[in-house]
Amino acid sequence: MSPRVLTTAAELRAATIELLGSSRRHPSSLGLVPTMGALHEGHAALARAAREENDVVVATIFVNPLQFGDPADLDRYPRTLEADVQLLGGCGVDLVFAPPQEEVYAGGAPLVRLSAGRLGEKFEGEFRPGHFDGMLTVVAKLLHLAWPAADASYRAYFGQKDAQQLALIRRMVSDLNFTAEIRAVPTVRSAEGLALSSRNRFLSEEEARAALVLSRALRLLAGRASRCEPLDLDSAVALVECEPLVELEYFEVVDPDTLEPLAFNCSLTPFSGEGLALIAARVGSVRLIDNQPLKADPAGARG
Ligand code: PAF
Repeated sequence: MSPRVLTTAAELRAATIELLGSSRRHPSSLGLVPTMGALHEGHAALARAAREENDVVVATIFVNPLQFGDPADLDRYPRTLEADVQLLGGCGVDLVFAPPQEEVYAGGAPLVRLSAGRLGEKFEGEFRPGHFDGMLTVVAKLLHLAWPAADASYRAYFGQKDAQQLALIRRMVSDLNFTAEIRAVPTVRSAEGLALSSRNRFLSEEEARAALVLSRALRLLAGRASRCEPLDLDSAVALVECEPLVELEYFEVVDPDTLEPLAFNCSLTPFSGEGLALIAARVGSVRLIDNQPLKADPAGARG
């Protein structure tokens, strides 16, 4: 069924109250799927997860100017509302909130914004200054705008693909006492392994093939981690650097929550516990990011 498309906060409030009120379950629950549109199977996975776990599902489509440093990037961001609404309908989403800019930033660019702090300055933050402040500001607003009611459960869905974004949103929710539970959904990949992203459409065929080296390098580390071997990160870096169309920006192994470097030497010491490998690279004119949770499996390693 086609979801209702709403463009004002007042319409969204009225529609969620109505749907939650007619839910047979009490207390009921609302799942929020914030997006910027240009949707693909990765977003569909978020919407389906929300559908499975909640009575009412709201997806938002809003290209947030605050999180774009370069106005040309904002202009270039694909707008595909009709196809997006269709995809969300196929996933069982009830309401699509697609507000114009003036509805979200009624007084113009907001004077008061959230700051991502130190966690937002590293990795993506180094390459995209201010991006995470803008992202957190809009996510905070969307969480407020779709807030169901005190007696309903509230969950919001984000992709593991944007690991730093996810870590920051979790931190914001904990630091600022938001009531929403943050749910992470695993990265969806093409059959060859490329992490799905709205930017992949800008890759040529040759670049898309070259970009596969990112997931190949991450899989190499995941295998070593699960076998409790030293990660030998340098060899994985070398693998990526061998691909002439790929220009590596960072490739690091960190603590999944704090994104701080792991306490032990990843290159030499047998891997134990858990970690997160983060990678970013330019492939032609397209910046790609990917990541891989790492987990030691001592039982498997012995077997
Ligand atoms: O991941 C995205 O699409 C955006 O950063 C988000 C979370 C919708 C905020 O604009």
